Amino acid sequence: MFVRDPQCRWSGNGDGLVLRRPDELARIRESAVEYVLVDTGRAVAVKPATKQKSQDRPQRTAVLGTAAGKRAAKAIDASRKAVAKIADDIRLGRPIQLVRLAPLIEELSEQVRTNTEALFSLLRIKRRDQYTYLHSVAVAALMINLARAVGEDEASVAAYGTAGLLHDAGKIAVPEQILNKPDRLTDAEFDVMRSHPALGHRILAVSSGISALALDVCLHHHERPDGRGYPDGLDGADLSRAARMAAICDVYDALTSDRAYKDAWSPQRALEAMQSWTGQFDAELLSAFVSSLGIFPVGSLVRVRDSALAIVIADNHAEPTCPTVRSFYSITRGCRVRCEDVQIRAAGVLSPERPERWGFDDWPSLAATLLEQAADHTPQRCEA
Ligand SMILES: [Fe+2]
Repeated sequence: MFVRDPQCRWSGNGDGLVLRRPDELARIRESAVEYVLVDTGRAVAVKPATKQKSQDRPQRTAVLGTAAGKRAAKAIDASRKAVAKIADDIRLGRPIQLVRLAPLIEELSEQVRTNTEALFSLLRIKRRDQYTYLHSVAVAALMINLARAVGEDEASVAAYGTAGLLHDAGKIAVPEQILNKPDRLTDAEFDVMRSHPALGHRILAVSSGISALALDVCLHHHERPDGRGYPDGLDGADLSRAARMAAICDVYDALTSDRAYKDAWSPQRALEAMQSWTGQFDAELLSAFVSSLGIFPVGSLVRVRDSALAIVIADNHAEPTCPTVRSFYSITRGCRVRCEDVQIRAAGVLSPERPERWGFDDWPSLAATLLEQAADHTPQRCEA
């Protein structure tokens, strides 16, 4: 592929280069470059044998073959069809049939609870042309998971799920060419895109039985705590918890999906990026979100069993719940200890921790120091 570096961090003049081998792409991924643009017009033909394979794709396909995978796929498909049906109803001016959604949300909630990994792995695979509907299903599932994580009761959890399914109802009025445009949107196109929350809200407000929560999520899921969102530029104090939760679920799913203009990011990479974008998300809810997914981004604080605090230093693509960590604090002794790198081998050995809880008030600078520090040992194994 031919890639350009719009921030000119490695190419100096902003021009691009041709990547011929997977390791060349890997080098860019590991570098400080945040993103590159793929210029399909200047792509060079390669033999199929050298085609770049996504690291986690085989694992995702493997999920499909299992019984859990099939049930998750069925729940996703039923919900996707329901979202498509709602879109048709809106287009034809027919009332939205909320009763039809209830059993789908119930099944989706059940899958989120019992079949979490298969469901979320499958939800990240979206054909680019199916993005809009599947994104709504993914946001519904993420909202359900997050609502449970913050202690909502099951009736409210279902309401959050429904709000997730309906949050982008206004996209019905955004033309396909804008929704799936591979290039940068023009100002006029951007205005059309930004009209979808208000428009969705108008459509839902005249439908019967839509909850206040779903209306709020639809109108405010693009608002940001720092006041830089749209449509109203509301700031933190005016933003409901539901709208903040929706913003997190919405952006996370967009980042971890293949889009017309970019390939999917890994969950770890998406969460790391989201944690670094100050003012964009509610920090407390984002940390609940990270815990609810059982994913540990590089740089986050974790507890290893009950004995130590550690910082995550490397992702594990095959098993997101088993990263490599650098332990630096003994909980049993209550003090800092010599750093030791540990390769986590069993899910459930780690739990995420909030730095403030342990008195690490300036976690970003402590994290940077710990990440730079050379460890004393080669990674040890940590079994359950
Ligand atoms: Fe949206």
